[in-house]
Amino acid sequence: MIHQFDAVIVGAGGAGLRAALEIPEGYTCAVLTKVYPTRSHTGTAQGGVCAALGNEEEDSWEYHFFDTVKGSDFLGDQDAIEIMCYDAIRAIIELEHMGMPFSRNEKGLIAQRPFGGHTKPKDPNNPFGERVPVKRACFSADRTGHVMLQTLYENCIKRGVQFFPEFFVTDLIVQDNIVRGVVAIEIATGEIHIFHAKTVMFATGGYGRVYRITSNAVVGTGDGFAIVYRRGIPLEDMEFVQFHPTGLWRLGILVSEAARGEGGVLRNRLGERFMERYAPTIKDLAPRDVISRAMYTEIREGRGIQGPDGTYYLHLDLTHLGPEIINKKLPEITGFARIYLGVDPIKEPIPVQPTTHYAMGGIPTNVDAEVVIDDKGTKIEGFYAAGEVACVSVHGANRLGTNSLLDIIVFGRRGGKKMAEYIKEHDFAPLPKDADEWTRKTVERLLNSNGKERVSRIRTELQEVMMDKVSVFRTGEGIKEAIEKIKELKERYKEVKIDDKGKRFNTDLIEAIELGNLLDTAEAIAYSALNRTESRGAHYREDYPKRDDQNWLKHTLIYKNEDKEPIIKYKPVVITKIPPMERKY
Ligand code: FUM
Repeated sequence: MIHQFDAVIVGAGGAGLRAALEIPEGYTCAVLTKVYPTRSHTGTAQGGVCAALGNEEEDSWEYHFFDTVKGSDFLGDQDAIEIMCYDAIRAIIELEHMGMPFSRNEKGLIAQRPFGGHTKPKDPNNPFGERVPVKRACFSADRTGHVMLQTLYENCIKRGVQFFPEFFVTDLIVQDNIVRGVVAIEIATGEIHIFHAKTVMFATGGYGRVYRITSNAVVGTGDGFAIVYRRGIPLEDMEFVQFHPTGLWRLGILVSEAARGEGGVLRNRLGERFMERYAPTIKDLAPRDVISRAMYTEIREGRGIQGPDGTYYLHLDLTHLGPEIINKKLPEITGFARIYLGVDPIKEPIPVQPTTHYAMGGIPTNVDAEVVIDDKGTKIEGFYAAGEVACVSVHGANRLGTNSLLDIIVFGRRGGKKMAEYIKEHDFAPLPKDADEWTRKTVERLLNSNGKERVSRIRTELQEVMMDKVSVFRTGEGIKEAIEKIKELKERYKEVKIDDKGKRFNTDLIEAIELGNLLDTAEAIAYSALNRTESRGAHYREDYPKRDDQNWLKHTLIYKNEDKEPIIKYKPVVITKIPPMERKY
């Protein structure tokens, strides 16, 4: 079946929904999602969305700008970061006016809490001197993403946006650098649909399921990354994979940084508040790359706590906060600890470990979410990306907590506005012949395969090797092992067999296609990580432990090269106001 829409948005998380709100009346907009819209991964974001509102104490968007540049280890593009931090204040007020139920302070204003890496100068006359944590994260208890998603969805319904839930997008239709639509499988029927479009936005979220321990929902299989990579569009800065310090031990489920924003502390086997050693000024509120490395170091040096299965964790201690704060401000995460680990955070510390959380890299875009494919800013006409799948790049080598909910509403809106301009000025570019060929052939191959390989086996082996070799700490040797394993798994994937041969809700088939996406995404991560011979932000190479601005103050662009080694190119980092300096906390 062929549909025609002025705008097709793939993904119903915050970025996609915010973009959809910009498509003007009189033009058609479809939002496709492989789940139900309100099950999108934005709904799991917990601790907050930041903006220098100054509701609790003096703050400024320029402090926020500085923190984000420093947090990114100077790899973030400063033009984009400036736009985001400046626009944050408007964006939050807009959400409030849309009906988002923020938590309130005693003055009735949107409440704000501290979060990792968000600071202000101790002495306002010395902006580059010592900095102290600032309350900048606006929140709704520890369900901020959930209420944001519901608010945006309700507003989309009011605006008449058309949703296609449980439509799994498998391909981008692009020819001569002009986008023409997408191909999707309707999960309920197995039917293949072509969505002919003037504009397409990918807002497909992250790839956390490339790793064994992750805070990402099962839908986080890197679909958007893999689809564009296969179509010859590069991916930017894929080596930068964020590990959030506090995932529930062995499960990876997120325990919000808000817990530390409210005063929780990390402790080792000896009960020491070990972050005092690694980040003496802001301690447990240091950025995530710093804390995750500190946690791995504590475990490596014998100060981790060993569980009955032999694996190690550390403690997140909230017991001194008291039941009132815990129940009012952190109800969700304390519920998770009780349900999944049988631990009551009011009385005992929570066992935690770093968990794969966020992709700093992704589809390269300019500050209007337009996809650009090289260092000259060449665009794919009509193609946009926003949210986690995009790399604009505001997060550089390491994202600060609460900057992702901000990123999605700021750049989702900017992309939506550009789509609105484009659809007014352009006609539909014709569809190529056989637009759905790749999808049809892939489905046929998987349904008819008599191979002996299992999806779950290959997926587990991939997740293990990525967790072990392309992790918080990496070495060239380890990454090479991961690359060899990915090559082997890709060969075995050709022999994968599924049991369900039917059409309706064939989740066997969907998981098999997702596995292909995981493998392509892992390839891009691993090759990018091998190539960058320095340490910066979340990319820590034990064989190259120093940041090297001389050679590496540049973005990676990785291009798929059929079955050969990928091609790597670069583009410069945009530096406007803050020159790179030593990064310490
Ligand atoms: O810890 C958290 O609540 C996560 C926030 C984020 O990733 O921005």
